[in-house]
Order: sequence, then C-alpha cells, then structure tokens
Amino acid sequence: MKRNIYIFSLFAILLSCGIIRQNKDGEVSTYELEIPKGFPVPIMPEGNELTQERVDLGRMLFYDPILSIDSSISCASCHDQALAFADNRPISPGVEGRLAMRNAPTLANVAYNPTLLFDGHLETLEMQILVPIGEHVEMAFNIVEIAKLLRKDSTYVRMSYAAYNRRPDAFVITRAISAFERTLISGNSKYDQQVYQGKNVMNKSEKRGMNLFFNELNCVECHSGFNFTNYTTTNNGLYEVYADSGRQRVTKLESDRAMFKVPTLRNIELTGPYMHDGSIATLEEVIAHYKTGGIAHKNKSELLKPFTLSKEQTTDLIKFLNCLTDKEFLKKKEFRNPFK
Ligand code: HEC
Ligand code: HEC
Repeated sequence: MKRNIYIFSLFAILLSCGIIRQNKDGEVSTYELEIPKGFPVPIMPEGNELTQERVDLGRMLFYDPILSIDSSISCASCHDQALAFADNRPISPGVEGRLAMRNAPTLANVAYNPTLLFDGHLETLEMQILVPIGEHVEMAFNIVEIAKLLRKDSTYVRMSYAAYNRRPDAFVITRAISAFERTLISGNSKYDQQVYQGKNVMNKSEKRGMNLFFNELNCVECHSGFNFTNYTTTNNGLYEVYADSGRQRVTKLESDRAMFKVPTLRNIELTGPYMHDGSIATLEEVIAHYKTGGIAHKNKSELLKPFTLSKEQTTDLIKFLNCLTDKEFLKKKEFRNPFK
C-alpha cells in the first residue's frame, strides 16, 4: 500500500509541474501545468516561472487588440484557438489588411520549441513577441506606446503588479504573453490516447496510416518525437526558385537558402493551408507533393525520394494525421478569450 502511494506521488510529480512563487503580499501562487503522458517538461526560462497571475495577464494581452496601432488586431486574430492557434488563410492580414509573406503557424506546444519562426532563428518566446508587434504588416505598433496605454487602465496596472511587482512595461508585456503561450499544451489527441495512454481508440485504417507514417515512408525522419518535429531547418522541395529565402535571410549562407523549420503535425487537420507560404490547400495535396519526391532544389533534403501509395493507403495516411487533432485543446476554457 505504502509503495503504491509512493509510486502514485512520483507519478503526480512527473505529470504536473506546479511552480510556486511568492508575490508582493506574501501570497503564494501556483500554476499547475499539466504535462501529458509521453511529454517532457517544457523549457521554462529563469525569471519567468509560471504563476496564475502571469498567465492570466498574458491571456488578456494575447486577446487584446490594444497591441496593434489602430486597435484592430490581436495575437488571436492570426492565432485562433478553434484552429489550434493557427488560422485558415494562406497569409494572414495584419493592420489595414496588409499582407506579410508567411502562413501563421499553430502555437500548440510552442513552449517546447528550441527556436521560433520558419527560419528558426529566435530562441525565446519573450523575444518573438516583439516581431508581430513591430512588423509593419502585422500590428505595426511600438511596445513602449502599448505600455503607456496599459498604464492608463487600472485593471492592467493591478494585474501587472500582481504578476511581476511592477507597472506595465516591455518587460511585463513580453513575459506575460510568453507565460500564457507556454500553457498551450496539446497532448490529448486520439494518437496520444492510443500510444501514450494505453487506450485502444484508433481504428484499423488509422493504424495502417500510422504504420505508413512511421515505418513504410520516412516522414518520421523529420516529423519525429512527441511533437512530430525534430526542430531542424531543411528543404522539402516545394520550388526550384523560392520567393522566400528562408533561413538564408538570417544567416546569409547559401547553404541555408530555402531552408524552413520542420513544423509540428499536431492538429494538422485544422491548420491548413500548409507550408510556410500557405501554398498547399489540403492534406491530399501535401501527400501528392511528397509522392513526387519534391522539386529539385540544391538544398533539398536527400531523405525525400519518390514513392507510390494506393488510393486506400493515401486515405489511411490522412486518417492517421487526423488522429493528431486534440479536441480538448480546441475548447479548453482556460485558453479562451477572457473578454467574451
Ligand atoms: C497578422 C497575423 C499575425 C499576428 C497579429 C500575430 N502573428 Fe504570430 N505569427 C504569424 C506568422 C505569419 C508567423 C510565422 C512568421 C515567420 O516564421 O516568419 C507567426 C509566428 C509566431 C510564432 C512562432 C511559432 C513557431 O513555432 O515558430 C509565435 C510564438 C507567435 N507567432 C506568437 C504571436 C503572438 C504572441 C502574437 C501577438 C503579440 C502574434 N503572434 C501575432 C502571424 C501573426
Ligand atoms: C526532409 C524532412 C522532411 C520529411 C522526410 C517530411 N517532411 Fe513534411 N515538412 C518538412 C518541412 C521542412 C516542412 C515545412 C516546409 C515549408 O514550410 O516550406 C514540412 C511540412 C509538412 C506539412 C505541412 C505542415 C504545416 O503546418 O504547414 C505536412 C502536413 C507534412 N510536412 C507532412 C509530411 C508527411 C506526411 C511526410 C512523409 C510522407 C513528410 N512530411 C516528410 C520536412 C519533412
């Protein structure tokens, strides 16, 4: 009996990583981050440990259009919970309908990403936030101006002190939004239930598709691990000449031209259109692309080789990919717009 209790508590510790911190009035606030079975504990930067106050403030900021120059766009305008925090447009319009050049990716499990953006060059969520805020084609604003607006709002001032013991400023804005983003963990799909939770929920077609993905085809060479990405940048042969130079834009190395970060495939059913430029509309077309082995680009990965699949096998593979949808994540009330 004692031994069981011991194992149970060990299990509980492994499954949740509650982080405790003392705030200004000496109250202890905890945020219980539930780590799904099969998932590691995510990266938590020192100085921005999770607390309920930080996550609450970050969630409000994430949904507040006050972050854009004309108060028209929030982070959620392009990262929508119902679509696993991606959106369904090839390129998402920013303020005044201005278009950037890339497709909005999912924010599911973003806490685990060692690098961010398609060129994989930013290392922390805290830094990433400055990109959409400042981008002319996204929010076109300035974090100093945002902080001034927040300081005129007594709710934000109160929440900012509760979370970081200081008034709203760039430090608070970037950290709070990141804290909220780190809670966006998706690990309760049919696949997770089958593989990590020991429930037999996948049907025969889905299981055949899983076998294709992991054993017959080599998708798993790049889309590997619990989050279906090895986090490297590579080229998957979309074009001979790319309009977007990918990682080369940052490193200036020819060997990085048209290299893009391998995206997670979690919730892939909902995050189309696909690829960095949203150029492929459906999963059928994505598979048709891989079947050709990709277009010859000098940096194309050698892992990509042509293969054939019957109609039934293509259906099986898509059915497997659809098992990565986590319905609980899409509806979880802790992630919803707090203004509604
Ligand atoms: C106008 C649409 C738009 C808005 C508004 C927007 N994003 Fe994004 N987001 C994108 C696009 C497009 C990318 C991919 C950009 C790239 O790779 O260069 C992206 C990438 C990201 C990434 C990197 C994900 C990864 O896996 O690499 C994070 C994190 C993120 N956004 C968070 C936010 C936050 C937080 C806000 C609000 C402060 C925000 N976004 C506002 C469109 C938007
Ligand atoms: C050599 C590594 C590699 C292999 C092998 C690979 N992929 Fe990819 N995959 C990528 C990269 C890189 C991207 C993103 C490319 C871009 O954005 O331009 C991608 C994108 C995708 C996307 C779109 C994701 C999104 O959010 O837009 C899907 C779906 C996908 N791959 C499925 C598969 C399947 C199925 C297989 C096996 C048949 C496979 N991949 C094999 C590297 C790979």
